[in-house]
Amino acid sequence: MTAGAILLAAGTGERMGVQKPKAFIHVGNRTLLEWSVAAVEACEDIESFVVTVPAGHEEAGRRLAASAKLETVVAGGDTRQRSVRLGLQALSDRSDVVVCHDVARPLAPPELFSSVVAALEEAYGAIPVVPVTDTVKRVKGHEVQETVSRDELAAAQTPQAFRRAALEEAHDRASAFDATDDAALLEAAGFRVVAVPGDPGNIKITRMPDLMVAEALVDA
Ligand code: CTP
Ligand code: MG
Repeated sequence: MTAGAILLAAGTGERMGVQKPKAFIHVGNRTLLEWSVAAVEACEDIESFVVTVPAGHEEAGRRLAASAKLETVVAGGDTRQRSVRLGLQALSDRSDVVVCHDVARPLAPPELFSSVVAALEEAYGAIPVVPVTDTVKRVKGHEVQETVSRDELAAAQTPQAFRRAALEEAHDRASAFDATDDAALLEAAGFRVVAVPGDPGNIKITRMPDLMVAEALVDA
């Protein structure tokens, strides 16, 4: 199996409320994109990678993603799902395993990429998960309907690894609905997806306070 990665950096970062694309924001001395590039560079199970950036930012993307493993930087689409498809089209046919990673998770360790790839021995997809620590409610409008048992709930992270043929088929079949991760598309298409232990430090940068937590984790 040869694994290639798609680094998803084509979001605008609306919820961050800054003027530049989220991928170009710094945590410590590196941008989010550079953190993810460093992780795939350090991971010997990832042979090559492509990057999706917002249209018009390809040049900056190429500069920040410079690496012997970089295949190409392409413009992403208007949803994450479309960006994955565009990344897939750009990724060399050599890769029969595809690892999708959100650069919004800059602290994903290289070992996590290896562990999802290794888990594909027994499945079509493998994703890191962490336990849900909040008490979770089903709420409609202002009405609390019920408390959902946490026992079977887990929060999904990236990197997520897939056998390429399954990922492509799942995307083809899912054009009608918009998922926030790729595993959801495989689940819907009936492909077996397994969970591996995620990393609580692999936080997602969505809003400004997340950035402050990431800064603290990098400093620690
Ligand atoms: N992403 C992408 N293409 C899109 C939208 C998102 O490649 N059209 C990527 C983002 O760059 C990010 C990941 O998917 O690494 C997860 O998306 P999210 O955290 O929602 O980032 P943004 O979409 O940039 O943020 P927001 O939703 O606040 O605008
Ligand atoms: Mg988004």
